Amino acid sequence: QHILVLHGPNLNLLGTREPAVYGHQTLQDINQRLFELAASRGARCTAFQSNHEGELVDRVHAARQDSTDFILINAGAYTHTSIALRDALAAVTIPFVEVHLSNVHRRESFRHHSYLSDLAVGVVVGLGAYGYEAALQYALQA
Ligand code: DQA
Repeated sequence: QHILVLHGPNLNLLGTREPAVYGHQTLQDINQRLFELAASRGARCTAFQSNHEGELVDRVHAARQDSTDFILINAGAYTHTSIALRDALAAVTIPFVEVHLSNVHRRESFRHHSYLSDLAVGVVVGLGAYGYEAALQYALQA
């Protein structure tokens, strides 16, 4: 089983970026934990972060070629803006879970709408880094 974890813009700054909202773990910490969890279950986990919308679209397309079975995606602010990312996920028809570290519904109203949620298998919000782990656990048994 191959699981792809996609991280959108500004998530490369995790650890120092608004830690009260996003926590103290770095993206590397989060990815490392996911890689270990996947490995312990005999699965492969690949992570990709980009601050560029088109690169995320390209990586979703590439997932069709690299036998990705499941995608975990935190699209960051592109969640609320990107029809292109939505269309890419719809095009490849790989099941995905949408993850947000913060509870977007407790925040500004512009964070309440997601272009991805209605296509997602599920959505995890507000559980911090644990949300990725929970989503990975789900993917591993899907
Ligand atoms: C986020 C929430 C988004 O609204 C924000 O733009 C982010 C991070 C989260 O993980 O809580 O960059 O996706």
